Amino acid sequence: MLMLSACSEPAALGDDPRANPRDAGKVALGARVYAQNCAACHGAKLEGQPDWRKRLPNGRLPAPPHDESGHTWHHPDNVLFGITKNGLVPPYAPKDYESDMPSFGGKLSDEEIWSVLAYIKSHWTSREMLGARAQMTRSAGRQ
Ligand code: HEC
Repeated sequence: MLMLSACSEPAALGDDPRANPRDAGKVALGARVYAQNCAACHGAKLEGQPDWRKRLPNGRLPAPPHDESGHTWHHPDNVLFGITKNGLVPPYAPKDYESDMPSFGGKLSDEEIWSVLAYIKSHWTSREMLGARAQMTRSAGRQ
C-alpha cells in the first residue's frame, strides 16, 4: 500500500533519492541547468513545444512537456536519467531511432542531471498523477 500525500512518506520505487524534488538545493541548481539546457525545447514553463503529439515534417517528434500534461512522469527516475545523459538510444528507443533530443553526458555532470530531474519533478504535485506514477514505475528496479 502506498501513501502519497505526506512529504515524509517513503519514495515510490521509481523515485531515486538523487532526484529528490524536496531538496531545495538540488531544485535550485536544477532550475539553472534547466533554463540553460532544456527550456529552449521543452519550454520555460515545462510546457513543451506546440502540437507536441504531432510529428514534424521530417518524421521526428517535437519536445514534449515535462509538466503533468506530458508523459515524462510515466518513466522511473533511472530511465529519465539515462535518456538525459545518453539521448533516445537503446534501451530507451529502438536502434537507429531518429530524435532531436540531445545527449547531455558530455555536457552535464551526473549531479547536474539528477538536479534537473529534481527540478522537473518538483512540478509534479497532484495526488492523482503521483499515484499513477507510483503504479507505473512499480517495476523500476528491473530497468
Ligand atoms: C534541441 C531540443 C531539446 C533540448 C535542448 C532538450 N530536449 Fe529533451 N527532448 C527533445 C525532443 C524532441 C524529445 C522527444 C524525442 C522523441 O520522442 O523522439 C525530448 C524528450 C525528452 C525526454 C523523454 C520524455 C518522455 O516522456 O519520453 C526527456 C526525459 C528529456 N527530453 C529531458 C530533457 C532534459 C532534462 C533536457 C535538458 C537537460 C532536455 N531534454 C533538452 C528535445 C530537446
